[in-house]
Amino acid sequence: MKVAVIGYGTVGSGVVEVLLRNHDTIVRRNSLDELELKYILDIRDFPLDPNKEKFTKDFNDILNDEEVGVVVETMGGIHPAFEFTSQLLSKGKSVVTSNKELVAQKGFELLNLAKENKANYMFEASVGGGIPIIRPINNCLSANEIIEIAGILNGTTNYILTKMINDGMSMDEALMRAQQKGYAEKDPTADIEGIDAGRKICILADLAFGKHVFPDQVYTQGIRDITLEDVEFVKDFGGVIKLIGSAKRIPDGRICAQVRPSVILKNSQLATTSGVFNAILVRGNALGDAVFYGRGAGKLPTASAVVADVIDCARHQGKTKILPWGENEKDFVAPNDLISARFYVRAYNVNDGSLAELDRLLGNIRVLERKNQSPDEFAFVTEEIVEKDLREKLGKIGSVEIKSLIPVTDY
Ligand code: HSE
Repeated sequence: MKVAVIGYGTVGSGVVEVLLRNHDTIVRRNSLDELELKYILDIRDFPLDPNKEKFTKDFNDILNDEEVGVVVETMGGIHPAFEFTSQLLSKGKSVVTSNKELVAQKGFELLNLAKENKANYMFEASVGGGIPIIRPINNCLSANEIIEIAGILNGTTNYILTKMINDGMSMDEALMRAQQKGYAEKDPTADIEGIDAGRKICILADLAFGKHVFPDQVYTQGIRDITLEDVEFVKDFGGVIKLIGSAKRIPDGRICAQVRPSVILKNSQLATTSGVFNAILVRGNALGDAVFYGRGAGKLPTASAVVADVIDCARHQGKTKILPWGENEKDFVAPNDLISARFYVRAYNVNDGSLAELDRLLGNIRVLERKNQSPDEFAFVTEEIVEKDLREKLGKIGSVEIKSLIPVTDY
């Protein structure tokens, strides 16, 4: 089978490198007749590239070449990646991608198109980079009812939070370091604001709960407002703050999906996931908890997952392997404030009167302390409560100003 790669950026060039470097092993181990890279499409010129004879700027070269059976889409973004993918699938060519934005937005549509044309649309690399997670949920865990799926899905923000927690570094300084090291983009908005993790939790929720969830249905809050004060108070509780993407079934059968800073207790495997690493926890009703950990980004780790999908497509030519989820249903996703959890709260303007009110409305709270705490600063952790009820109760305590309200996870 012949392969084409569309988009020769970090991941695309990694895919080419892995395909060429491991070619003999891949072919032998998977009993393939051949797996040959035929085209690389990019609008830029790469005159010094050792594969320069494979480059084309014309998408039709790939679309109309009957020999090409699998196309790797590593261009990113929705347009023209969506149009290219649709045309390729319509011609019965399989498409493999790391493009989480496209899968999160159009996954259901593209999977259907693949099925109609006896092709495959695969995206193991779209979540967790090189960590196997899509296939495990789809295959190995398919006997489970999934209760919750949650994880550290963005390496850049995890690097920043790790620097704040371990070195007391400010967010701005940690972000600058992340940019110097090439983890964060020049415009880091999608990482910092939780948008990237939001796309990933959509894909995981689709797989885990069987219906397409759109990014705008996910409550998304990034790390912008996390301060060193929060880091210190949460330390006193025996926890760390991580940006967690999660999707969870609530008692009425709907799901809540959110990306937000969360308190993780120190003995959790997610708490020890540091720097740019990712970790994804799946809670199944037969399995209990399983955690998938590893490199969530980077050229070769991501290429490793992409090429595994290419091999899978080559091994299943003319046969659609998976159609794992159904159409979006608006009411399937519930407002995120229906989740019940313990909450960490940092507040100001707390006086004796408001303390008595807090005690009356919330019952048992655990008061937290930090070094150099300012006299009007008050932080605590509640007992388990539905977030909506907590906000209503806090709203009744007139003078108190709430600066942080962060769920404490139970994993
Ligand atoms: N910007 C992403 C991250 C890249 O930092 O995790 C991988 O999706």
